[in-house]
Amino acid sequence: MKVLVTGAAGFIGSHVVARLLKEGHEVLGVDNFDIYYPRSQKEKNLIPVLLHPKFKLIDDNLATMALITVLKGTEAIIHLAAQPGVRGSWGSSFHRYVTNNIHVTQRLLEESKSNKLKRFVYASSSSVYGDVGEVLHEEMKIQPKSPYGVTKLAGEHLCQLYNLEYKMPTVSLRFFSVYGPGQRPDMAFHRFCQNILHEAPLTIYGDGKQIRDFTYVDDVVEIITSALTADVVGQVVNVGGGSPATLLEATAILEEISGKTTAKTFLERQKGDVFSTRADTTKLERLFGTKPKTNLREGLVREWEWMKKFVLSEDEEQSIKAAVQPITDVDEAALAESRADGKAHKKASRKAAKAVKGKKKAVLKETSPETTET
Ligand SMILES: NC(=O)c1ccc[n+]([C@@H]2O[C@H](COP(=O)([O-])OP(=O)(O)OC[C@H]3O[C@@H](n4cnc5c(N)ncnc54)[C@H](O)[C@@H]3O)[C@@H](O)[C@H]2O)c1
Repeated sequence: MKVLVTGAAGFIGSHVVARLLKEGHEVLGVDNFDIYYPRSQKEKNLIPVLLHPKFKLIDDNLATMALITVLKGTEAIIHLAAQPGVRGSWGSSFHRYVTNNIHVTQRLLEESKSNKLKRFVYASSSSVYGDVGEVLHEEMKIQPKSPYGVTKLAGEHLCQLYNLEYKMPTVSLRFFSVYGPGQRPDMAFHRFCQNILHEAPLTIYGDGKQIRDFTYVDDVVEIITSALTADVVGQVVNVGGGSPATLLEATAILEEISGKTTAKTFLERQKGDVFSTRADTTKLERLFGTKPKTNLREGLVREWEWMKKFVLSEDEEQSIKAAVQPITDVDEAALAESRADGKAHKKASRKAAKAVKGKKKAVLKETSPETTET
């Protein structure tokens, strides 16, 4: 099948691309490398697939680009591109959520409505539920608690609408706190691992007793790719049920895996944060014949292993950037001396690396609250 994956360079998108290629599909990815988090992480996500003969990537903005070029010949769309993040959706940033989550979804549906697609898979979120109960099922009356949740719900409604009016084969999958290698840098486990590696305290909003149904990324990818052929058109389905745990339980597992105990700073609960997200997976199991299987410890071991390499490579890049400063005032004598034994450069690099590490710790202390995207 020729599949268009939007948000292909992102956390979930890059895993989906790799899985589709492994299954023999032809994949066209679109991503504008949105500045919400660094392009460098998204580029790293794509390294394993970039040279695959059946993969093409277009670096463009789905809100403005001519979609006709990417939709030509497309048989299915997996629509993951979005502006994520619950807390950032309040205030003046809301326009980014409206554009990337609602407008882009409407554009894709509108422009592909006569393309005879086999599937349009939409990435929704458990954030559409709000605080409506401990265990969340698809037929509940829902009430999003954040502007982000409102925009993801609007995307679901648009999918339902195009399904009803244009018989588009849409399905909306509500993801629950996805984690694993490649996780976004604003998300809780990424932050926690990073702080543990930098020996900085963990910052937690609320008392840490909030429950999340942490779902391992490979399990989510399994459901997304099955949605291309499963009998799920017109449905809204929870994709969760991996490992419900409180944030404190999750940090305890991470401490055990890393062999390090960490100080924790508790901050006031944030607007938009819900108390509990646990997925009822009855519908998921009925329609897909499966549900997430990876337990939290197993998944966290994999994320931790990935994070160790990721943080090391990021730290090295930062050190190099800091060490390679443009020379504005050249002292020729000093330069000749430094060339002679190379010691000065090494010392400067070490000093710069130390400075960056110190600076990073300071920044992390101030700006490293977790988010448990739901
Ligand atoms: N990660 C989770 O726990 C989680 C939970 C629920 C729902 N979701 C949903 O799953 C999807 C993927 O999430 P993720 O965590 O991989 O996020 P991500 O930010 O890593 O990936 C989204 C990608 O979309 C791209 N993008 C955004 N706007 C775009 C635009 N206008 N044009 C082209 N590309 C654009 C970004 O550059 C990014 O690479 C999103 O729709 C998100 O709302 C994620």
